[in-house]
Amino acid sequence: MKVFVDGAEVEADPRDNLIEAARRIGVAIPYFCYHPRLSVAGQCRMCLVETSDAPGRLVPGCQVRVKEGLKIVTTSPAVKENQRGCMEFHLINHPVDCAICDQSGECKLQDYYMEYDHQPSRIRTYKLNKPKREVFGPLVVYDAERCIMCTRCVRFMDEVAQEPQLAVVQRGSHSLIATFPGQPLDSKYSGNTVDICPVGALLNRDFRFQSRVWFVNKSPTVCTGCSTGCNVYGESRGNVMYRLLPRRNEEVNQVWMCDEGRLTYHATNDSRTEWARTGKGDAQQSVGPRLAVERAVELLKPLAGKGGLGIAISAQCTNEEAAAAFLLGAQLGAVHYYLGGNPPGDHDEFLIRGDKNPNTHGVQLAAQAFGVQLEEPKGLDAVKALLAFRTEGLPIDKLQRLEVFIAVAQNENAVTAEAQVVLPCQSVYEQDCSLVNWYGRLQRTWAAVPAERGDSAPGWRWAADLMKGLGAASFPKSAGDAFEALAQKSMHLTGLKLAEIPDDGLVLEGEMPTQWPARAPRPGPGAPSIRPPSPPRPDLRVGDEASGGSR
Ligand code: SF4
Ligand code: SF4
Ligand code: FES
Repeated sequence: MKVFVDGAEVEADPRDNLIEAARRIGVAIPYFCYHPRLSVAGQCRMCLVETSDAPGRLVPGCQVRVKEGLKIVTTSPAVKENQRGCMEFHLINHPVDCAICDQSGECKLQDYYMEYDHQPSRIRTYKLNKPKREVFGPLVVYDAERCIMCTRCVRFMDEVAQEPQLAVVQRGSHSLIATFPGQPLDSKYSGNTVDICPVGALLNRDFRFQSRVWFVNKSPTVCTGCSTGCNVYGESRGNVMYRLLPRRNEEVNQVWMCDEGRLTYHATNDSRTEWARTGKGDAQQSVGPRLAVERAVELLKPLAGKGGLGIAISAQCTNEEAAAAFLLGAQLGAVHYYLGGNPPGDHDEFLIRGDKNPNTHGVQLAAQAFGVQLEEPKGLDAVKALLAFRTEGLPIDKLQRLEVFIAVAQNENAVTAEAQVVLPCQSVYEQDCSLVNWYGRLQRTWAAVPAERGDSAPGWRWAADLMKGLGAASFPKSAGDAFEALAQKSMHLTGLKLAEIPDDGLVLEGEMPTQWPARAPRPGPGAPSIRPPSPPRPDLRVGDEASGGSR
C-alpha cells in the first residue's frame, strides 16, 4: 500500500509499522524498545510521530500500522520536542559513565543524544543510585543505572529463548531488571540479551573491558560451534579475535546465536600450533614451513601406493581442506579415510544441533564426490601411517603405535604431541572458505582475522605443498581452486565458484532433511536460495585450462 513519509511516497507492506515504512526510504524514526523480532511494548516513547489519522496528537511509530494513504510526519516541532523530552527523561538518572562503559561506540543513548537531544542536564539534585555490576549469569552482567527499562531483554527471554528468566521489579524510577531468586540467567541464548540491549546495561562478561569497539575489525563469517552454521560477524585486531556477534540470516539463525557458539573464537586465540615443526618430545624443533614439508614428504614418499596409509579428515575442516586432502590421498594411494570431529553434545528445537562440527555434511559430500568411503577413527588399526587434517576425535592410543604420523593442526593437544611433523593450520575464522550446514546449506566464510599467526596456513595449502613436494603437476593454488576441484566432481556444486556463493548461502536441493526441529529457521518451499543438483562435467580436471580456474 501507498503511504507518505514527510511528503515522500512510500510503497509499504501492509504489515509494516510506521518505523518500518519510514525505513524503506531511509527515514530513521528513533526507537529504543521496539525490536522487529519481539512483541511491541510501546515503552520508551521515543518513536512518537504525527499522522493524518490523528491530527494534533503523537502516536507511537512502533505500534501503529500503515494504512492506505496515511501521511506520516517525523520532523514536526511536536515530534522534535517529544524526542528531546524523552532523551532528557531517559538521562535523568543515567550515570553518564561512557568513559568506562563497554557499549560506548555502539550505544543508542549516545547516538540519540547527539542526534536528537544535545542539551545540558538540568538536574541539580543527586541522581538515583542503583545496583551496578550485578552478575546475572555465566555470560551476562547488569548495570541498573544504565538501564532505560525498554524491556527488550525480558521480552527476548519470554518470546525467543522461551525461558522467562528476567523480569521488571520495583516501580517508577526505582524499576530494575532482575533474575528470579536463586535462578541465574543461564539460558543457552543469554548472550543475545546483550546484543539487543540498546545501552550498556547488559554486558558480555567474556568481552567486557577487552577492547574498545572502534578498535576491532568486523568481518562476516560462520560459527563453527555446531552444524547449524549460524551466520556471524567475527571481530578482531591484528591476529587476536575479540568476539562473535550474530549476522542476520532468516533461514539459518534469524538474528540470534547461542552462548557456546559465541565462545568458539577462543580456539583461534589460545593454545595455537604456530610454527611448523618436526620431531617428537625432546627432538621437537621449529624448522620453518619449507623444511617441515620436506620432512613430511620424506616420510610419506616411501609409503605412497604401498597400502597402509590413511588420511584423517576432521568435520571441522572446510570444504576446500577436505577437497585438497582427498586429492592428496589419491596421489598417495591412501587406502583408508577417517572422519574425525568433536564429539556430539546437547541440542534443542531452535538453533543448537547435537553435531558440534560445522562441516560434517560438507566433508561427507566431498567424500561422495571423490568416491571415498569414510570410516570411524576407531578403525585406525588398519593403517601404519596417518596424515591428519585437523586432529579432533583421533584416538590417542592408536596414534602411538603408528610408524608415521603427520598432523595439520590448529591447536596444541595430546594428538599433536604424537606427530613427527606438525603443520600449523589456520582456523575457519582466519580463512576464505566454505562449509555445508546440517540441512545442506552451502555457506561462504571470509577471513575475519587480518594478520597471520606464525607459520599457520589453511589446510588446503599444506595439502597442496605436500602434493607439490611429492611431484604432482597440478595442485590447488588458492581456496577457489580447491573449491573448484570439488565442484567439478560434485553434482551439487556443478559450475559453482567459491567467490560466487551468495553471502547468505545456497541450499543444496536433495540434501535437505524431511524432519526439522520444531523451531529451527529454514528455507520455505521454493525459496530462491534452493539450488537443484546437476551432473558434473566429466571432461574437466583440476588444472585444466577449460576449467576456468585462476591458475
Ligand atoms: S537491561 Fe537493556 S535491554 Fe533490558 S530493559 Fe534495560 S536497557 Fe532494556
Ligand atoms: S547454534 Fe551452533 S552454529 Fe549457532 S551459534 Fe550456537 S554453536 Fe554456533
Ligand atoms: S519504540 Fe515505540 S515506544 Fe519505544
